[in-house]
Amino acid sequence: AKGGDRAGSVKQQLSRLFKASLSATVPDEPNIEPLVEVCTAKFGDYQCNNAMGLWSRIKGKSTEFKNPNSVGQAIARNLPPSDIIESTSVAGPGFVNIVLSDKWVAQSIQQMLLSGIGTWAPILSVPKAVVDFSSPNIAKEMHVGHLRSTIIGDTLARMLEFSNVEVLRRNHVGDWGTQFGMLIEHLFDKFPNWEEAGEQAIGDLQEFYKASKRRFDDDSTFMEKAQKAVVRLQGGEARYRDAWKKICEISRKEFDLVYQCLGVHLEEKGESFYNPYIPGVLEELSNKGLIEESDGARVIFIEGHQIPLIVVKRDGGYNYASTDLAALWYRLNIEKANWIIYVTDVGQSQHFDMFFSAARRAGWLPDSNGNLYPKASHVGFGLVLGSDGKRFRTRSSEVVRLVELLDEAKSRSKTELQKRLKENGKIAEWTDEELEKTAEAIGYGAVKYADLKNNRLTNYTFSFDQMLNDKGNTAVYLLYAHARICSIIRKSGRDVEELKKTGNIVLGEPDERILGLHLIKFAEVVEEACTNLLPNILCEYLYNLSEKFTGFYSRCPVVGSAEETSRLLLCEATAVVMRKCFYLLGITPVYKI
Ligand code: ARG
Repeated sequence: AKGGDRAGSVKQQLSRLFKASLSATVPDEPNIEPLVEVCTAKFGDYQCNNAMGLWSRIKGKSTEFKNPNSVGQAIARNLPPSDIIESTSVAGPGFVNIVLSDKWVAQSIQQMLLSGIGTWAPILSVPKAVVDFSSPNIAKEMHVGHLRSTIIGDTLARMLEFSNVEVLRRNHVGDWGTQFGMLIEHLFDKFPNWEEAGEQAIGDLQEFYKASKRRFDDDSTFMEKAQKAVVRLQGGEARYRDAWKKICEISRKEFDLVYQCLGVHLEEKGESFYNPYIPGVLEELSNKGLIEESDGARVIFIEGHQIPLIVVKRDGGYNYASTDLAALWYRLNIEKANWIIYVTDVGQSQHFDMFFSAARRAGWLPDSNGNLYPKASHVGFGLVLGSDGKRFRTRSSEVVRLVELLDEAKSRSKTELQKRLKENGKIAEWTDEELEKTAEAIGYGAVKYADLKNNRLTNYTFSFDQMLNDKGNTAVYLLYAHARICSIIRKSGRDVEELKKTGNIVLGEPDERILGLHLIKFAEVVEEACTNLLPNILCEYLYNLSEKFTGFYSRCPVVGSAEETSRLLLCEATAVVMRKCFYLLGITPVYKI
């Protein structure tokens, strides 16, 4: 059920209180949105910032208020009674500072431990989303750009799913380009028995692609044949369809290896899927007067852009944009998605800008870019750079084989882990399988976290040394921090399940309160990461959580102290929230080191 037993984030809960207060304060001004933020000053935990704006709307009209401060006073006074708020104070031009009740914070954490972290999921107003991500091209290389798209898209999907949004995870693979003409003809020429030989015939698909491209560029008879092949394929000729299917299948196997490593699930709906919808969609756009002739092509002119969006090429063929228009139409009308999210490199921003504008002109999307639905968002990301500051390449070859890259992360983390365990004299306690699984979690987790922790729009430098460092803001550091908390709990010898039911959390020391406050911000952080489509917000939260835990643990003794029960529960809550963060980032937690 939407909402369920979720109360929403602290911000949302406070907003409900302030909403009531605002309508009591200014009954003539209905529907004022409460502006509740985390407090920037030390006078409170949160603050409400409505007074100034409200004052400028009512001054002159109201006899009751003489300045913004008096509006703030009234907002504070009119708050309905609640367990959440300990006290309020009004500062300067009417900021209402809120101090949360320690007791309420403690109870919220305890309730979460009892009912599960699902009760801390934010409440989003969108029921259904498409996340279009990964989306490599058949027979071409799946490069680090696609890796970024896979990692970022998966995280966004996970965060939305956690927030009870129905998510359609779509792999929009490039399986319908003109490149298939040359691939198929090359296959027919070089491997007449391709049906039996199949996979072996094509062998290395990328080499095969290059070879057919060379012929296409050098040999005009071949080029002509290849162009005719596209028509025959698109006309549905059986031999051509079969060859096309074979090539797609081989590519798909390659892609799946990467998805398996990363634990990413996607549903393939490639470009070819939308092909039958293109004529109808273009007819609709044409009837709406959007499509014009230009230079032999059919195009849509977009305000603010020099060149138009080409939707039918001069040779009558469709392109990337025609497919995307049909796919958007399908997602809106057939799949009835409210939010359609595209994860690609920023290099494609112009394409998305233009075709979103076309969709707005067609009336498919609402005019403003704000928070109206249905909504389409392009999630752009920067380049992956090597340590030389240039586009990332591996030593061995021109292209980066993604599976090899992930393997290297894993084997490096295994070496490090073994070294560490030998130093600690713990290596004997580990089975081979445990070692393998842990190395995998750390290695793949490191690759993902290094990508996600930066604002996605910036370029990032791929460095094994950096991402596998066990100090600083890395997955290794965070995974170890989590394992350490688990071991504190284990070593206490207490039964946490029992403690959850019988014990109480008390936030006595400042460090305990700081940790508790950070824990209960989890929901609003996920909400913010979702609404802004920025996974780095969650990474930052996770890193800060482990810092706050360190502060707490270094100053508040746990095992053997008078506060042992309460503090063990705080340890457990930290571990639970960290694990959920890992899960949302697609990282597998480890429990021992
Ligand atoms: N195949 C494209 C590429 O490799 C990405 C497709 C993104 N999705 C979309 N609907 N355009 O660049």
